[in-house]
Amino acid sequence: MKGIILSGGKGTRLHPLTKITSKQLLPVYDKPMIFYPLETLLAGGIKEILIIVAPDRAGDYLNLLGSGKDFGARFTYEVQDKPEGLAQAFHIGEGFVGNDSVAMILGDNIFEDDFGDVIRNFKSGGHVFAKKVADPERFGVVKFNDQMQAEKIVEKPTEYLSDYAITGLYIYDNKVLQAAKELKPSARGELEIVDLHNWYLDRNELKVSIVNGAWFDAGTPDSLFKANQFVYNKKTL
Ligand code: TTP
Repeated sequence: MKGIILSGGKGTRLHPLTKITSKQLLPVYDKPMIFYPLETLLAGGIKEILIIVAPDRAGDYLNLLGSGKDFGARFTYEVQDKPEGLAQAFHIGEGFVGNDSVAMILGDNIFEDDFGDVIRNFKSGGHVFAKKVADPERFGVVKFNDQMQAEKIVEKPTEYLSDYAITGLYIYDNKVLQAAKELKPSARGELEIVDLHNWYLDRNELKVSIVNGAWFDAGTPDSLFKANQFVYNKKTL
């Protein structure tokens, strides 16, 4: 399985911090934020990783992460010219993914859980991970039926759907490359990852598991602070 870390974007909610560097290079306790999603992929045994970055910060990523040798992995870099949606990663990464399956993780997502077994045992379809949160309207939200099977997934629902947010780790088989080609931009002009989940859901090939440990999307001042606090507590208390 190949890995993608999507680490572009604008980071406007973290202005002015993100006027001086990329969001995913900001510190979370003692390491740059991107180390956490990187470690999640490495812990799953993924050794070939594509890092997608915004044009203005590409050099900083190369300086920080290099070839991947120091991490026992091989890194490839691509620039996303404009942040036109999470699912665009599968256009940019098409050649890199080749005929393999792929685990994509967002560069600002920090997971406590170890996904090693899930990644190693993945066979086909799509597999995403949900977590109960207090502010589901910030995320893609999944509604489960009585058997905890995913019934419906909606991006940033305006009406209450459920408390379960889809987190930023997505595992797909190779069909995702085709599915991404079929996508049309949404009303906000982005290629939506939620449309890929629904592509698999419509074919009965989407598994949605629950994240047991802590999860942070460190994209706002509050969530970045909480992520720092969590890592600090875990390492020092
Ligand atoms: P977001 O947090 O939704 O977007 P952002 O990082 O640009 O922040 P803001 O909304 O505050 O302006 O993105 C989630 C993650 O995906 C984050 O790590 C950035 C990344 N991303 C891309 O790399 N390319 C994209 O086109 C988008 C939309 C996000």
